[in-house]
Amino acid sequence: MSTTSREVHLIERPDGLPTEGQFRIVETEVADPTEGEVLVRNVYMSVDPAMRPPLTNGQTPLDKTMGAGAIGKVIASGHSDFEEGKYVQHRFGFREYFVSDGNGLSVLDPTLGPLTCYLHVFGGTGFTAYGGLLEVGQLKDGENVFVSAAAGAVGSVACQIAKIKDCYVIGSAGSDEKCEWLKEIGVDAAINYKKEPIRKSLKAAATNGIDVYFDNVGGDHLDAALPRMNLLGRIPICGMISAYNNFGSISDGVTMLANMIYGRITMRGFVAPDFMHVREQFLADMGQWVSDGRMQYRETILEGIENAPKALIGLFTGLNIGKMLVKLSDE
Ligand SMILES: NC(=O)c1ccc[n+]([C@@H]2O[C@H](COP(=O)([O-])OP(=O)(O)OC[C@H]3O[C@@H](n4cnc5c(N)ncnc54)[C@H](OP(=O)(O)O)[C@@H]3O)[C@@H](O)[C@H]2O)c1
Repeated sequence: MSTTSREVHLIERPDGLPTEGQFRIVETEVADPTEGEVLVRNVYMSVDPAMRPPLTNGQTPLDKTMGAGAIGKVIASGHSDFEEGKYVQHRFGFREYFVSDGNGLSVLDPTLGPLTCYLHVFGGTGFTAYGGLLEVGQLKDGENVFVSAAAGAVGSVACQIAKIKDCYVIGSAGSDEKCEWLKEIGVDAAINYKKEPIRKSLKAAATNGIDVYFDNVGGDHLDAALPRMNLLGRIPICGMISAYNNFGSISDGVTMLANMIYGRITMRGFVAPDFMHVREQFLADMGQWVSDGRMQYRETILEGIENAPKALIGLFTGLNIGKMLVKLSDE
């Protein structure tokens, strides 16, 4: 006996925005688990902007199963640590089923909220926003904050943490529908950067300057924020999605760096694992904020493994509001 599964392979390296034709859905047979192994049926998987540069720079191999953060259900087990029926979190996304010896799997006990939340507010994107804003951004109550890609997974959490800290929050996003949602979650000034150049609209919105710019975009957004930064302002560099479709993630010109000098601005990149020392506090805070309604979230869920490439590409065309996920099977 075996289980028929489908998985996603990259078959051609993209130059610019990827196309669905550069991926292939491949059918495989997954053998039954033996002693010490488990068979997992994936339920949800995440797509993330950071997956884009490796498609071009060679880190994602061609004609092999791709990887992604995902949650699956153990449906057959020969491993005492992973009971049948339990959910497991892992990085074996982009496939429907897999067999594992348990390496890289952690049992998930979804007590804080729905399963999908462990791929955003309680997962990597929520943790990134929390650590980036509070640890790197050193956010203080009542400051002026600008968040780019504000209606996305990381951005929407960053905006709401800043509101919880009584800050004045400016968020930029690529559609009126996204800006409407930003207002619903408390953002004070929502900018549709596709309607007017970001430099102009940010200047108009940031009448009291910016103390913390949480940068998800880089390029023109970073350039627009630099002249608006207040004395001793901080710029946590979370991501540069505007550059990821360029070979080497080469950013569009950032020309206003001289503002860092007299402004005494700090700019610092980071990755989520930098903040493991605040992980318990993050889960406690986020659990509280979600349960008391101060942290809201949205999800854009595409159905079926065949839509996983579309979901990944959609991050670069603005298809998602909140976290982009792919549903691979029923819970
Ligand atoms: N440092 C870390 O550890 C870490 C961890 C996770 C994520 N990140 C970074 O955080 C950022 C957001 O990630 P996410 O997972 O939350 O994705 P996301 O914001 O949910 O989705 C990406 C969004 O970026 C916007 N976008 C795409 N191209 C753009 C461009 N050229 N200019 C302006 N906006 C653009 C799109 O929204 P619009 O409709 O608004 O354009 C899109 O919906 C990314 O840069 C990512 O690399 C960093």
